[in-house]
Amino acid sequence: MSVRPIRWHEDSLKLLDQRLLPGEVTEISYDSVAAVADAIRDMVVRGAPAIGITAAFGVVIAARSRYAENPDNWWEGIEQDFRLLADARPTAINLFWAIERMRGCFDEIDGDPVEYLLAEAKAIHEEDIAANMRMGELGADLIGAGSSILTHCNAGALATGGYGTALGVIRSAVAEGKVEQVFADETRPWLQGARLTAWELLQDGIPVSLIAEGAASWLMQQGKVQWIVVGSDRIAANGDVANKIGTYQLAVSARHHGVKFMVAAPTSTVDMNVASGADIPIETRSADELLKCGDKTVAAAGASAWNPVFDVTPAALVDAIVTERGVVEKPDTEKMLAMMQNA
Ligand code: MRU
Repeated sequence: MSVRPIRWHEDSLKLLDQRLLPGEVTEISYDSVAAVADAIRDMVVRGAPAIGITAAFGVVIAARSRYAENPDNWWEGIEQDFRLLADARPTAINLFWAIERMRGCFDEIDGDPVEYLLAEAKAIHEEDIAANMRMGELGADLIGAGSSILTHCNAGALATGGYGTALGVIRSAVAEGKVEQVFADETRPWLQGARLTAWELLQDGIPVSLIAEGAASWLMQQGKVQWIVVGSDRIAANGDVANKIGTYQLAVSARHHGVKFMVAAPTSTVDMNVASGADIPIETRSADELLKCGDKTVAAAGASAWNPVFDVTPAALVDAIVTERGVVEKPDTEKMLAMMQNA
């Protein structure tokens, strides 16, 4: 596992700037909670679990500043910092999950909060990597020898603490010698597939073929893939899956062509408080992400654009949800509940 997007080093948070990959491999240091929130919003760091881990370290930074200002009542005012972090992006539940878990420590803290909170943030980070390794094993078990796999967006080491969710399954299946070929959707408009997934798989020596989004159904029709494996930003109680825009059309097409559809995500991505995908807030980003390519405008002058960056795949189109607590085949509310209760 060569890629690590987040680390705590010499009292500050370091994030690999994913906006610049694959051309430049550069880290930025963060010492203020406002800057951490901006990094999440501007996608220096992205991917649901990675956003959550970053927010956890953001809480450490916030508490450090509050304690320096007011050691007796450092927690007063920290709600403001939580809000700053929580407002950065709306869809990935991991962001809110991590903030709540950090808040849950406050009652235990006596005096300077930094050491305690830092240990918790590091635990969230390490637990995420362990969950990914476990999902890798469980997901790879479902994949038959000689399979080819298509993935969407980047649900890899870059999107998590390390190893990845969907790419964790792919890494494990490759290590077991089961994979014929890995395909990655380029993932417009931000190009997570072309820029990030291709880069991180190649770092590990795993060959990857890019396809344009529009080629996915044809790839399936030609019998060139047996599995679609993706991550998720939020899974509802009934097993509906929010993930990068374009995931839904892959699931529809996969069912039509008899291709299997797997979602790999840790339980920190499961939101049992939303009954179905209809209740998941879907982020809409700037039209410029579509109208431009980098700094260059590519759309006809005067065109407008609609840029929802996630969609919801109904549970009925999902063959398996893989979490670190187990595999849920043909998900529904009852099975999701049973899996979540499985310690
Ligand atoms: O907009 P992004 O790049 O943050 O979207 C990321 C995704 O949609 C990933 O597939 C999802 O977060 C799962 S990451 C393990």
